[in-house]
Amino acid sequence: MACTFSEQAERYSFAAGPAQLPREVLSQIHEELPDWQGSGFSLLEQPFTSTAYKQLMSDTEQDLRALAAIPANYRVLFLQGGASAQFGLLPLNLLQPGQSADYLESGHWACKAITEARRHGPVSVVASGAADGFTALPAVETWQLDPDAGYCHLTSNETGNGLQLRDFPQLSVPLVADMTSDFLTRPVPVERFGLIYASAQKNIGVAGLCLVIVRDDLLRPPSAGLPAAFSYAVQAEQQSRFNTPPTFALYVAALMLRWIAANGGLTAMAASCRKKSQRLYACLDHSELYRCRQREEDRSTVNVCFELREPALLPLLLTEAERAGLHHLAGHAAVGSLRASLYNAMPLAGVERLVAFLQQFEREHG
Ligand SMILES: Cc1ncc(COP(=O)(O)O)c(C=O)c1O
Repeated sequence: MACTFSEQAERYSFAAGPAQLPREVLSQIHEELPDWQGSGFSLLEQPFTSTAYKQLMSDTEQDLRALAAIPANYRVLFLQGGASAQFGLLPLNLLQPGQSADYLESGHWACKAITEARRHGPVSVVASGAADGFTALPAVETWQLDPDAGYCHLTSNETGNGLQLRDFPQLSVPLVADMTSDFLTRPVPVERFGLIYASAQKNIGVAGLCLVIVRDDLLRPPSAGLPAAFSYAVQAEQQSRFNTPPTFALYVAALMLRWIAANGGLTAMAASCRKKSQRLYACLDHSELYRCRQREEDRSTVNVCFELREPALLPLLLTEAERAGLHHLAGHAAVGSLRASLYNAMPLAGVERLVAFLQQFEREHG
């Protein structure tokens, strides 16, 4: 017989995404799926043009606005294509003829964003952490900003490198941020940004949905070569219904937003991420076997990246961790070693289990 969600509770996924969901959210999906709101059809079968589904979209937007304190002059878009599609869509939507874009090269995902943006417009790198092997973030005072840039792009949290920006500068050009791995894990001053985007599969539910929060004045009619489905202005004009939105992922996001609000909102999420990550970093910093190379001030509260001083032990550690119910601890393919992702749905108990496991492994093999 299939086990229930509560019986599975002793297993934890530290995957960088798609990530573990809260048990309550999974249970609600399970209960509601066959018959959504008494309609006789599942959510998967709802037309996105139905009154009930439009209401879900509008309620979700209102919940997100309340949770993240999104000012009235910003539009919320529910798009497909993931954050990777936005890498190319940002220059196509935001750059005016003759403008270039500034980018902070902070790690793996910033590099991807830069490579893709360069296919569509001129890009200038304001500062790079490459010389440090992306173990620290370049200080804002060192950024070579272009006052005429169309926008300046940051990656708020480098998922693969374990680095997170603590503060966001106030710039004269629109600040654009890829917040895919830490959106809704802490309060952010949305009014400081021209645009924020985040794929949902880490902290806001499941894959398929990308949130784009864009200031009104940056919406312009689509330029030649930009498909209308990927024009922020067109999607804003049509309430993200120019084409079929990712209906199921949006429904899961609606549940996640309610779960976050019910669990204390973004201040509580931030406190929880801090507590979980501090517990794990303290264990790593006091160890003879593990090492965390990220500069302390820049360490991520949601993706803890670390390595073994004896790299040959890695396959054994990963196998024993899985056996202990601690899953997906391998680092990003481009970085290697180890990574524990501690998104909103990871309870402190999961981190305590991981710490106990790492200490036991060190006693046995260190
Ligand atoms: C910071 C960051 N940006 C972008 C992406 C790519 O997101 P997607 O696969 O939804 O395109 C990821 C995925 O892990 C990420 O962590």
